Amino acid sequence: MNVAEIATARRTCKAFDPTRKLDPDTVDQLKTLLRFAPSSVNSQPWHYIIASTDEGKGKIAATLAGRFEYNAPKVLNASHVVVLCVRRDLDDAHLKALADQEERDGRFATPEAKETQHNARVFYTTLHRDQLNDMPRWTEKQIYIALGSLLFGAAALGIDACPMEGIDAAAIDAALDLEAQGLRCVVLTALGYSSDKDFNAKLPKSRLPAAAVISEI
Ligand SMILES: Cc1cc2nc3c(=O)[nH]c(=O)nc-3n(C[C@H](O)[C@H](O)[C@H](O)COP(=O)(O)O)c2cc1C
Repeated sequence: MNVAEIATARRTCKAFDPTRKLDPDTVDQLKTLLRFAPSSVNSQPWHYIIASTDEGKGKIAATLAGRFEYNAPKVLNASHVVVLCVRRDLDDAHLKALADQEERDGRFATPEAKETQHNARVFYTTLHRDQLNDMPRWTEKQIYIALGSLLFGAAALGIDACPMEGIDAAAIDAALDLEAQGLRCVVLTALGYSSDKDFNAKLPKSRLPAAAVISEI
């Protein structure tokens, strides 16, 4: 595998073919990418809502009005739409669930090792919540790692994708009742296959030259 070839070939899909759907094995691989993304102190502050039904996609598309209307057809015509959400807080129950999962997954030789790992996570969570006051920003940073992994993985699988920040996140929270679930929408990703109306598929990629963005010391 040549990762540079994948990175330079992938393109944001601007128009999806509504007749083409992802097969279940591909969807499972993409779910694995989302779940296995790395995160600071393995905090996994995310939840992913995957809309594949007309009803689910319709609920999301209905929020894309006014200046975000241009993204609605992507949501409606994609095979699957992932709503990448963060938890509104990393509460004690979540931190305990993480430590218990790591224990079940065999990461601790002793109870003390579990305690040490848990305490480190409590330290960083408290730091961001109570001292730096940037819990939303911290959790959003983690979700963008998952987004990057999803976009690259989709390209590697030959799937077209469109990440979308052109959304009304609060309207999506309301439409999907996310606040009641302790969640907040950050960004969407539509997945599927380009249609012949996807103008971006025919355009050359454009990036600043390597010398402008990479320095070696
Ligand atoms: C976080 C993020 C948000 C984006 N939001 C939108 C969006 O709302 N609508 C859209 O059509 N494209 C969106 N894009 C696509 C970018 O415009 C695109 O990635 C960029 O122009 C580079 O083109 P490429 O992805 O084809 O290489 C977004 C991309 C990222 C990474």
